[in-house]
Amino acid sequence: MLLTDEAPTLTRTIDPAFRRDIIEGLSRSPKATPPIWFYDRRGSELFEEITDLPEYYPTRTETALLKAHGADFAAAVGEGRAVVEFGAGSARKTPHLLRAIQPAAYVPIDISGDFLRVSSAELAQAFPDLPVLPLVGDFNGPLELPKAVEGLPRLGFFPGSTIGNMEPDAAVDLLRAMRRLLGKDAMLLIGMDRIKDRARLVAAYDDAAGVTAAFNLNLVERINRELEGDLPIDGFAHRAVWNDEKARIEMHLEAVRSLHFHVAGQCFRMEPGETIHTESSHKYGPRDERLLLRAGGWEPACEWTDAEGLFTLVLAEAG
Ligand code: AVI
Repeated sequence: MLLTDEAPTLTRTIDPAFRRDIIEGLSRSPKATPPIWFYDRRGSELFEEITDLPEYYPTRTETALLKAHGADFAAAVGEGRAVVEFGAGSARKTPHLLRAIQPAAYVPIDISGDFLRVSSAELAQAFPDLPVLPLVGDFNGPLELPKAVEGLPRLGFFPGSTIGNMEPDAAVDLLRAMRRLLGKDAMLLIGMDRIKDRARLVAAYDDAAGVTAAFNLNLVERINRELEGDLPIDGFAHRAVWNDEKARIEMHLEAVRSLHFHVAGQCFRMEPGETIHTESSHKYGPRDERLLLRAGGWEPACEWTDAEGLFTLVLAEAG
C-alpha cells in the first residue's frame, strides 16, 4: 500500500545548495566536496552497481547478517513498530528486516525522489498490507515524520555504514537528530563497517571494473551539466587511499595535468597531482562503534558480526 501525495518533478532548476557546496568546496584548500552530491540518478545507479561488485564486501556481508538474524531482531524489537529507513535508496536490504519483524508501517527517507518512488512502489507491491510512506528529503536536515506513524514506537534503520561517510562530529549530530525524530522508546538498527586489512579496503573503493571510478567521475559530469561547468573529464583520475590516522578510506579526484575550468561563472585552477577530496568512509573498531553510538544518544543493546569480522549490525536503544 503506497501512500504518497507528492507530484513528480518535471523541470530541472539549479539547486542552490549544490552550487554553494561545490563553489565553496573548490575554493577551499585542499579542495573537498560533500559526498551527498554523488547521488543524482546516474550516481545512484552506479552506487547500486558498486554494491554488487566482488570487491565491495559491505552490502553482501550486511545482507547476509540481515537474512541470518531475523529471529533475533524479532525477539529484540517486537512487532508493530514504524520502521524509518534513513537514505533508503533502492531499499534492497529492507525486505529481510520487514519480513522478520512484522512492522506497522514503513517510512523510507531519501534525497533522490525519483529513486525513492520506484523503490517504494516495488516494496509496497511485495508487502501489500504494509503502509509505505516515502519521505523525500535530506536526513541531515530537519524532517517531520508522516502523521500516520504518530503514536507508533519507531525503529530507525540505517544500513550500509552510511554513518561512515560523515565526519565524527557530524555523525554524532545525526545520531542525536535521529534520536529526537524517532522519539521515546525508539530503537536503531545501524550497519557499521569494521577496520580491516588495508588492501581489502582499498580494493573495495578502487575496483578492477572501474565502477567506483565512474561513480567518482560522475560528480564532474554532474557539475558540468547542472552548474554550467567545463571541467575536462579526462583531466581527472579516481584515487582511493586509506588514511590510517583517521581510520578512513578517502576518495579523491586527482588532476592529471594543469587544469583551468569554470563552474557557475567562477574560475578555478588545479596543479598536476592536486586533488578534490570527494568522500571519506570511516571504519570502526568494536569499541569505536559503541562510543560513537553513546555520544549520539543511543545505548548499544545487541550486535551481530560476520565470521570474518568485516561488518557489524548494532541494535541500540534510545538512551
Ligand atoms: C554509501 N556509502 C556507505 C558508501 C561507502 O562505502 O562509503 C559509498 C561508496 N563510495 C564508494 N563506494 C561506496
